[in-house]
Amino acid sequence: MKSPLHVVILAAGAGTRMRSNKLKVLHQVAGRAMIDHVLKLAESLNPSQVTVVFGYQGEQLIRHFKDESVNWAEQKQQLGTGHAVQQAVNFFKDDEDVLVLYGDAPLVQTQDLVGLAGQQFVLTAEVDDPAGYGRIIRSGDEVTAIIEQKDANSTELKVKEINSGIIQAPAKGLKKWLDRLSNNNQQQEYYLTEVIGLAAQDGEPFTAVKLNDANSVKGANDMVQLAELEGIYQQRERLKIMQGGVKLINPNSVDIRGELTYGRDVVIDKGVLLDGQNSLNDEIVIGAYSVLRNCKLASGTIVEPHTILDGVVTKGACSIGPFARLRPGTELSAGCKVGNFVETKKAVLGQNSKASHLSYLGDALIGQGVNIGAGTITCNYDGVNKFTTTIKDGAFIGSDSQLVAPVTIGENATIGAGSTITKDTPDDHLTLSRARQKTVKDWQKPQPNTSEK
Ligand code: UD1
Ligand code: MG
Repeated sequence: MKSPLHVVILAAGAGTRMRSNKLKVLHQVAGRAMIDHVLKLAESLNPSQVTVVFGYQGEQLIRHFKDESVNWAEQKQQLGTGHAVQQAVNFFKDDEDVLVLYGDAPLVQTQDLVGLAGQQFVLTAEVDDPAGYGRIIRSGDEVTAIIEQKDANSTELKVKEINSGIIQAPAKGLKKWLDRLSNNNQQQEYYLTEVIGLAAQDGEPFTAVKLNDANSVKGANDMVQLAELEGIYQQRERLKIMQGGVKLINPNSVDIRGELTYGRDVVIDKGVLLDGQNSLNDEIVIGAYSVLRNCKLASGTIVEPHTILDGVVTKGACSIGPFARLRPGTELSAGCKVGNFVETKKAVLGQNSKASHLSYLGDALIGQGVNIGAGTITCNYDGVNKFTTTIKDGAFIGSDSQLVAPVTIGENATIGAGSTITKDTPDDHLTLSRARQKTVKDWQKPQPNTSEK
């Protein structure tokens, strides 16, 4: 029978080289804290429990994970990776397998660990430049020792197979070897890597499991490495969605943070940023330099360049932008057009309604076939409360009108350009509020004053 899996995540290190007030593992890759990626990986393995080892600036971590059900193990002094795992042993149960992950190595993927349940292994990778990593000393598939860079001799330094830091072992064995750790090394730390040597001495060696993609083991110790991780992550995401049929016109310029689901024949132009949970149905085009956050777009939606969409839902093919900003609560039905310099917030537009230029539509319920003229503003806020503007089917709002909410514009009503509408307007009629135009016939242009010295 498969043993329950206990995942231990190490996150107590100071992260000095980040030169930041923020805890290292809370720095983000693809818009999410590094440790969130690691926790997500842990959860994908259906663990029986997850223990996070915290220490330096631990209060930041506890606040960050306040909604997660994890065990907390405090490491008061950062005496090494082995010492860190020792802090978690009180949570170990004898029948468990323990998997150790690092909070600052967010690129490990579920696929790197599937099929390894029940095995005692260390995850390794072959790299061109092993500098800084522990070296794997093998005998066949078995690891006889891991030698840290600082403790390695010249032969060991040449080894290009490195320790990812990720190990798995039965709780009982791990506990036994952790009890025997010494800090008799260059850094005078209790190394987790010493466990591997002790296990080999006991005739219970760890197996080396070499990763196909050596990038998975990379961690971030400074801002340069953090940017490198971001690059690797983005490259993986781009490849994944292109393999899924998404056309990226200039792949390297597109960034994906969060989750993206997509249909067929989606085209994403240069410089697009996708953040949060985005869902793009078939035949959608996202124009250059647009930003989408938490959007759900229906088939055939066209987003023109330089458009910012946040929490937008389209229910059929429509056209948005260029230079539009649509905020949460915006819902567009089929055939809608929201054009340049239009801002919307909590605005629901029925089929074939159009706001083609220069408008603010906030807290607006707009029916079908409505035409919103340039410069129209729904005045939804009196400085204290928000109010709704309702515009019924077929209404025509003349340019530069202010609709002072709460107010309702009747079905097929027309509002004359330049009106300030403060009362409900009837169906089918023209309503306008504007000073009558007059021309002053005998008016003369002022002349320069010649008498002044
Ligand atoms: C470690 C490994 C090395 C491996 C490398 C992979 C050891 C001795 N060395 O080295 O073989 O190639 O990772 O990246 O294990 N941490 C604690 N408490 C501590 C020290 C560290 O929680 O006292 C945590 C850190 O927050 C971090 C992780 O453990 O998440 C790794 O620590 P780090 O100091 O970066 O180890 P490396 O020197 O990189
Ligand atoms: Mg490290």
